[in-house]
Amino acid sequence: MSGVEKLVILLVAVVTVCAAVWPIPYRRFDSRPKTDAFCQALYPFCPTGHPDGSMPKMMDSDVVEVFSMKAPVWEFKFGDLLAHFDIIHDAIGFRNNRTGLNYTMEWYELFQLFNCTFGHVLTDMDPPLWCNQGAACLYDGIDDLHWSQNGSLVKVAEISGKVFNELADWVHTDNNTGIYYETWMVRNSTGPDSKLWFEAFDCASFVIRTFNKLGDLGAKFNTSVQTNYTKITLFSDQPVHLGNTSTIFGPKGNKTLATEIRTFYEHFQAHQPFPSLLKSMLEAFDTIVLEKKWYFFYNFEYWFLPMKEPFLKLTYEEVPLPGRKEVTLA
Ligand SMILES: *[C@@H]1O[C@H](CO)[C@@H](O)[C@H](O)[C@H]1NC(C)=O
Ligand SMILES: *[C@@H]1O[C@H](CO)[C@@H](O)[C@H](O)[C@H]1NC(C)=O
Ligand SMILES: *[C@@H]1O[C@H](CO)[C@@H](O)[C@H](O)[C@H]1NC(C)=O
Ligand SMILES: *[C@@H]1O[C@H](CO)[C@@H](O)[C@H](O)[C@H]1NC(C)=O
Ligand SMILES: *[C@@H]1O[C@H](CO)[C@@H](O)[C@H](O)[C@H]1NC(C)=O
Ligand SMILES: *[C@@H]1O[C@H](CO)[C@@H](O)[C@H](O)[C@H]1NC(C)=O
Ligand SMILES: *[C@@H]1O[C@H](CO)[C@@H](O)[C@H](O)[C@H]1NC(C)=O
Ligand SMILES: *[C@@H]1O[C@H](CO)[C@@H](O)[C@H](O)[C@H]1NC(C)=O
Ligand SMILES: *[C@@H]1O[C@H](CO)[C@@H](O)[C@H](O)[C@H]1NC(C)=O
Ligand SMILES: *[C@@H]1O[C@H](CO)[C@@H](O)[C@H](O)[C@H]1NC(C)=O
Repeated sequence: MSGVEKLVILLVAVVTVCAAVWPIPYRRFDSRPKTDAFCQALYPFCPTGHPDGSMPKMMDSDVVEVFSMKAPVWEFKFGDLLAHFDIIHDAIGFRNNRTGLNYTMEWYELFQLFNCTFGHVLTDMDPPLWCNQGAACLYDGIDDLHWSQNGSLVKVAEISGKVFNELADWVHTDNNTGIYYETWMVRNSTGPDSKLWFEAFDCASFVIRTFNKLGDLGAKFNTSVQTNYTKITLFSDQPVHLGNTSTIFGPKGNKTLATEIRTFYEHFQAHQPFPSLLKSMLEAFDTIVLEKKWYFFYNFEYWFLPMKEPFLKLTYEEVPLPGRKEVTLA
């Protein structure tokens, strides 16, 4: 190999390492691991779901209606206290016109939202423990009142039974490989073209993914329907990769960094009494706003976020249904 060739290879290697691809792709797994025995659901996951997540089998010639369904999250889980936060849960409904049977499909946290958002700090030695799995749940029936009273239930497409069955295969693969829930989206700034560092992976991203898959399978959507989704965004300058649990908290890890991460997550321990939760949330506010630090967990790895204004924002933005023609202004 000539010196020039070596130099070219070296340069290519340097560029590959330095030019991180943003957003960082959400990691897919070969299969879903067992959850840690510590993780216990306050509300059981998918209590009325089909055993093993089996999907109903349709006849190829069936006509299946598809619905976009939305409901405020906090209302039905935590009472009115948090109802004023505009956090909307998204789901998909299906109705077989031949049988008249209908189904609800949603993707959500196995151990509730707070557990997916913050890790548990159990001792002053161990790394935070994450109960952050999320999964798809399909059950019989659509509770029209639940979705339409304070949210919405809108028909968005009609598909064939054949397309539904193809979608069912995809849902199983997606469910076995996309195993963890990610609450936050992370961007560089509020502008629409701002750099996206990390994508969320939540109930809404599942619905968007599924609609796009249906579009790929040939479904025609009623693109007059406007579909908006909740986004919870953190704002930071370019994130810095720190490592995973073993490289940070293992024997060769950086003890200072390990302590900083534990201290950060200690602020967000839901199982403490309310006054101390409030106190630590205020401390967290100091860390985030005054020191501009966030230790972000993504793909089971930690990243440092140099936080900046407006720090955190909740928005309700449109992601159009597949097939909408771009309107170009003259
Ligand atoms: C979160 O996980 C912990 C530990 O398993 C569990 O006790 C708690 O009920 C879960 N849910 C919430 C909302 O904290
Ligand atoms: C997705 O995975 C979860 C967790 O293993 C399981 O309970 C659920 O039935 C699966 N859902 C589908 C639609 O396969
Ligand atoms: C399916 O059933 C609904 C409700 O009965 C009806 O509005 C719709 O026209 C039907 N679609 C087809 C293609 O049969
Ligand atoms: C779903 O089925 C139930 C029970 O038959 C019915 O009450 C409800 O109106 C149906 N909803 C939709 C959107 O098809
Ligand atoms: C809709 O909101 C009202 C007022 O907050 C509440 O009383 C009602 O139970 C809600 N309906 C559903 C289906 O959650
Ligand atoms: C991030 O946003 C800042 C302004 O807040 C801008 O100066 C900078 O170029 C942006 N960086 C990237 C990588 O987009
Ligand atoms: C498409 O959606 C619009 C807006 O919700 C609605 O007015 C219209 O009736 C729908 N068209 C069909 C064919 O369902
Ligand atoms: C953690 O990162 C190291 C170095 O990149 C890698 O060798 C190891 O397999 C990772 N551990 C896990 C559990 O992913
Ligand atoms: C260890 O982590 C601290 C805090 O993040 C950092 O300031 C320091 O440079 C790190 N030390 C090494 C050897 O990487
Ligand atoms: C839906 O999103 C669009 C564009 O993102 C926005 O203009 C509109 O106000 C949103 N609708 C609601 C009800 O928030």
